[in-house]
Order: sequence, then structure tokens, then C-alpha cells
Amino acid sequence: MPGVMSGVKISSLGCYVPPGVLTNHDLEKMVETSDEWILQRVGISERHIAQAGVATSDMAVKAARAALEQRGIDGGELDAILICTVTPDMMFPSTACLVQHQLGAKHAWGFDLVAACSGFVYGLTTAAHLIKCGTHKKVLVIGADTMSRIIDYTDRNTCVLFGDGAGAMLLEPSEEEDGFIGFLNEIDGSGGDYLKMPAGGSRLPASADTVSQHLHYVKQDGQQVFKYAVRKMYDICTELLNRHNLTIKDVKLLIPHQANRRIITAIAERLGIDCERVIINIDRYGNTTGATIPLATRDAIESGKLKKGDIVLFTAVGAGFTVGANLWRWSY
Ligand SMILES: CC(C)(COP(=O)(O)OP(=O)(O)OC[C@H]1O[C@@H](n2cnc3c(N)ncnc32)[C@H](O)[C@@H]1OP(=O)(O)O)[C@@H](O)C(=O)NCCC(=O)NCCS
Repeated sequence: MPGVMSGVKISSLGCYVPPGVLTNHDLEKMVETSDEWILQRVGISERHIAQAGVATSDMAVKAARAALEQRGIDGGELDAILICTVTPDMMFPSTACLVQHQLGAKHAWGFDLVAACSGFVYGLTTAAHLIKCGTHKKVLVIGADTMSRIIDYTDRNTCVLFGDGAGAMLLEPSEEEDGFIGFLNEIDGSGGDYLKMPAGGSRLPASADTVSQHLHYVKQDGQQVFKYAVRKMYDICTELLNRHNLTIKDVKLLIPHQANRRIITAIAERLGIDCERVIINIDRYGNTTGATIPLATRDAIESGKLKKGDIVLFTAVGAGFTVGANLWRWSY
């Protein structure tokens, strides 16, 4: 009934990564880098890359279908679809529209949510509130990015970091004392220049010049992003726990955005959570932007580390800057 506040649970999860793999040894042949440097400085061994012609909506649909199948429903039961991406198929229509059509989700509305690597955390927060206010019963949050389409494979500062993938979580009302506990999200536009794709929007529309200057690719100041990520994810997780009278000891698992193994271990150390309770899978996928948190959650479930009733802390940081954290009690 609209207007009745409800609990919220995550009821299923589906993921997809494309079959193609780009290893550090492959990259050694493309730019001046080494397997040793990448492993030591970032923690990545390989990443999945979508084949030519595959777009973000294609991967999003595959992840969505896996989540719907796990729950035993079809797209017609969805009320809303949120796509967290910075690599939409095109500027418009939104990727949400393309996915809605492919899923046959004829009763769903939806939109693309642009928060870069914090996208999935923002998506979970938004979807949880659509359910909480009583107007939505089934909301699908999909994080999907084809980062390989906006990476300059002649720039060693960025090309070793990213991979492609998609992950989806279905959110539903819950009667039990489980599910969504709370969130804390922030943006800080003063960091906008440190990580961006400069051209292709209204400021610098596509032209022969923008293409020749490689302005349709990711540009970043890695050290600035690194410092912000460690400081802000720690701050926001600590503040969120305080607001809910919880401590890190109450958290069974930390599932952070996967941008750099050193960022994750630095946050874990500052929070005082031992590495057994932190999910790291960046070695196999790289930074898949909107998809890292569902991919890491799948690994947590499959390895038996995440079980019904466990408190999980999701946190992410991304271009913008954007930063966020969500606390959930896992529901299945
Ligand atoms: C990008 C990042 C891995 C670089 O690591 P770093 O330890 O900060 O390295 P620096 O930028 O200080 O560069 C050190 C040296 O390594 C070199 N280097 C950079 N990329 C390299 C690569 N792929 N292979 C080999 N050497 C590389 C640099 O050119 C520099 O050389 P120099 O000393 O001769 O100038 C790191 O800063 C990072 O992960 N930042 C966060 C990025 C991120 O998470 N982005 C997404 C946010 S969601």
C-alpha cells in the first residue's frame, strides 16, 4: 500500500563478465609496463574485456536475467530498473530503457544513475528508498560498465586498471528485521578534474580535434584519487557505523569497491577489520566501475563468507568525487 514504510531486502543477485581475458602479460606487449608492477602497485592479474559489438546493455541484460532466474520471476514483475553506469550504450535513450525492453519489463520505469564507481552504492540507496516508501515491490539495481570502450590502451597510467562486467541485485519489501540498515553518501565536485572523460558531452562535443587529442578516454590523477579514496571511504564508513550505534566488530564483511588492492587494505587497516572479513577480487576482474560490488558480493556468497543474517558494509568512491557506504543485513 503506498505510503506505508517497509523493510527492504536484497532477494537475489546475478552477474556477468564477458569471456575475453586481458592479462598483465598481454598489456606488457601494448605499453611499457610489467606484470610485477601491476600486481605490486594495483593487485590486478587479469581483467575481462567485452568483444567488439558488445555494449553495456548486453551485459546488463545477462546479469539481470541471472538475478531474475534466481528469484524465479520474469521481467514483467519489475516495478523499476536502475542502471548504474558511466558507459551507457549511447547518450540517450538511457541504458535503462534498452534493458527494460530486452527484459520485457513492461510495468517498469527506470533511469541511468551516473555516479561512476560509487554508482552501485548510490543505486542500492535509491532503490531501498523506492521500496521503503511503499510504492515499489521489485526494483532491480544493475551496475554495468564496458570500461574498455573509454580506455586509452596507449596510456599505461589507466589501461592496466579497468575491466568490463555487470552485476544486478533485486530489492523487495521485507517483513523481517533484516535488509537495509542505512546509508551515507556524499559528493564533492571540487575533485571533478582528477578523474574524468573530458569530451563527448556539451562542454567538448565530439570533433576530429577531441578524437585526435584522446579526449574521449579516461584521464586521471591517480595519486589524488588514491588519497581521497582512502581518507573518505574510512571517514564515511566510520560515520555510518556511529550513526547506527554499531562498530566494525558488528560487521561480518566489508565489501568495498575494487579500484586498487592497496586502497582496500589501507581502509581495512584503518577501520581495524582483519583481511579475512574483506572481499578482494580485483586480481581477476580489475576495476569494473559499477559492477565491482555485485561481483565481489557473488564471490563472498560462493566462498561461504556471506550468510543470512550477516551485517555487510558496502563502500565505494568514484569520479566526481562521489563516495558512499551502505549497511545491510544479508537476507538469504
Ligand atoms: C594509478 C595508480 C595505480 C598509480 O600508482 P602510484 O603508485 O600512485 O604510481 P605513480 O602515479 O606515483 O607513478 C609511479 C611511477 O610508475 C609509473 N607508472 C604508472 N603506471 C605504470 C604502469 N602501468 N606500469 C609501469 N609503470 C607505471 C609512472 O609513470 C611513474 O613513473 P615515474 O616515477 O618515472 O614518473 C594509483 O595511483 C591508483 O591506483 N590510484 C587510484 C586510481 C583509481 O582507483 N581510479 C579509479 C577510482 S574509482
